[in-house]
Amino acid sequence: MKCATAATLVLLALAASARDEKSCTVHDSEGTYYDLSGLTAKKDYSFTTFEGREYYINVCKSVQTETWALEDSGEVGGFTRKDRGDFSIGKVNTTIDVRDGHPLLIMKDGSNCIAGGDLKASTAIRFICDTSVTSTGQPQLLAELPPQDTTACAFFIEWRTSYACPTSEGVGFFGGIGFIILSIIALIVAWALFTVLWNRFMLGLRGADQLPTIPFDSVPNVDLSAVKGSVRKFTSRMGLNMGRWGSRNSFQGFSGDGITRSGFSRLPSSHEEAAHMLGEDEDEEDIESPIQIVRPPGMDSEGNVRL
Ligand SMILES: *[C@@H]1O[C@H](CO)[C@@H](O)[C@H](O)[C@H]1NC(C)=O
Repeated sequence: MKCATAATLVLLALAASARDEKSCTVHDSEGTYYDLSGLTAKKDYSFTTFEGREYYINVCKSVQTETWALEDSGEVGGFTRKDRGDFSIGKVNTTIDVRDGHPLLIMKDGSNCIAGGDLKASTAIRFICDTSVTSTGQPQLLAELPPQDTTACAFFIEWRTSYACPTSEGVGFFGGIGFIILSIIALIVAWALFTVLWNRFMLGLRGADQLPTIPFDSVPNVDLSAVKGSVRKFTSRMGLNMGRWGSRNSFQGFSGDGITRSGFSRLPSSHEEAAHMLGEDEDEEDIESPIQIVRPPGMDSEGNVRL
């Protein structure tokens, strides 16, 4: 049952890693990955309107310039200085969208618009991949609406930067190779589990006979101890109790009918040694073993006593 639990955990981990979007990064529908977190700055960026007003903004972080007379100053994503107090053009947002292949950042819920009701200022920034831009690039205002600085309440910004280019995810454990390894382990666990259940309930096998055997005789001179060692190391790092599977499989190989034996580089040279090896393996057996083998020490799967 531990194996079933382990398999479930692995599958859940795989599913979870596919879902979570890190702050300020995004995958588009085709899986292309964008990471704008490199644009988050200690010193605010600024842009200037056609009439000459200066605005300060940051990316995925509140503005670092000190604001004046603004509520929730820690959540302001962009603002301009006005005589009667600062004017916010939107709240910080760490969720990025992708539209037409360009990352898009929307900041809503800024200050109340001068011109109307409960409408609040908002800003849309379209990031455009441009590898010719060195450093971070600069935001550039495309349009503000209404079009006068005094009443402007919606801001459209274009930002050319290499940070907007598709990139690859950092090789976190769940990225890249880790994902492949986990998938393979999940498949092996599922296969082993299925084999045991099949052998037990469909073929009516008992004891070691119901364990899956790997046809190592088709791969001559496999040094199984090295494989076992690395599998154990990996699984124990993963916190999965699968080392037992390794030892069970090899146990079955050792005690098999001589055909499976040929695959092992380290063969028992005598019956004593064989019995010793079997004995060692018996010692490893404990309550935690996912499947308890009921078999007298020294007896192999054929029922032959080797002592
Ligand atoms: C943050 O951005 C997302 C995606 O564009 C948007 O749905 C959400 O309303 C934004 N939130 C704020 C507070 O701006």
